[in-house]
Amino acid sequence: MKKRVLATRENLPGRGLERLSEGAELVAWPGAGKPGPADLAALAPGVSGVLALGNDPVDAALMDAAGPSLRVVALASMGFDNVDRVAAAERGIVVTHTPRVLAETTADLTFALILAARRRLGAAGASLAEGSWGLFRMHDYLGLDVHGATLGLIGYGQIGRAVARRAHGFGMRVIHHDPYAPDDDLSTSVGLAALLADADIVSLHVPLTEETRHLISARELAAMKPTATLVSTSRGGVVDEEALLDAVREGRVHSAGLDVFEREPMGGELSPLVAEPNVIALPHIGSATEATRAAMVDLAVDNILDVLAGRPARTPLPGSTAVAGAPVGG
Ligand code: DGY
Repeated sequence: MKKRVLATRENLPGRGLERLSEGAELVAWPGAGKPGPADLAALAPGVSGVLALGNDPVDAALMDAAGPSLRVVALASMGFDNVDRVAAAERGIVVTHTPRVLAETTADLTFALILAARRRLGAAGASLAEGSWGLFRMHDYLGLDVHGATLGLIGYGQIGRAVARRAHGFGMRVIHHDPYAPDDDLSTSVGLAALLADADIVSLHVPLTEETRHLISARELAAMKPTATLVSTSRGGVVDEEALLDAVREGRVHSAGLDVFEREPMGGELSPLVAEPNVIALPHIGSATEATRAAMVDLAVDNILDVLAGRPARTPLPGSTAVAGAPVGG
């Protein structure tokens, strides 16, 4: 008999959900928007797997609603701050995510943000669209060079390295801060204080954890050069947005390129950072290409099918077991 798997959306890029429904009995949230905790809890009893996105809370209550049959929670995301990992470990549930498949695509977007913020593409494009380009003037929209600049990567995993490779094409010097990553042929490891003081562009590539929440706050922003750009494609909570807003408004940092925010999605209630002329703001599209989003769903599905077949998960979260343990009460 096929095991039941809950997917938090019924429509996802690629053929992953089709494959999942061939190997399992698929129960998908049918709504157009994002399901609330009660919607998912109502569908959860008796499921063996949950396929969730990076912004769906997967907490102890959902795990308990599923009951002792639950073996695997597969995220179609690299980030995993939405999952209660302790609750999963206590219940012997494997938690997986989607590293590797999105690194290059997210690095592309990181570079787009670096270029857009340094060269003031948002403000320049908006003035053209408003019809206010009457004259070519030598002093309009002067930005700062990207080529030859020093790039400081905070977090030097797969995405950080993919950004470093691109940076060398721009003749940049690359330094990184990551307690788990020594020097390599692309980048030199430095302390956080040295990176903040030296980098022209500071780009964040760490997951959101208790250790990294508000890693960039008023103190770190004050340590950056006034000509520096802050870029984030990781998670909103890594940056103290109020402190960043103050720093950008007061010219204490040159600019920011942000794909992620503390409150997502924003609906009509926009973060004040969105309207800042020196901020390029995007709605969390780091991995948003057709091929990459389909690959993320595929990998999440493979993880579910493997665990349900008794095989080790392909990409368990760091610290998660790869094979489901005896569930509590199971
Ligand atoms: C990720 O993979 O973490 C992206 O931010 C999408 O959730």
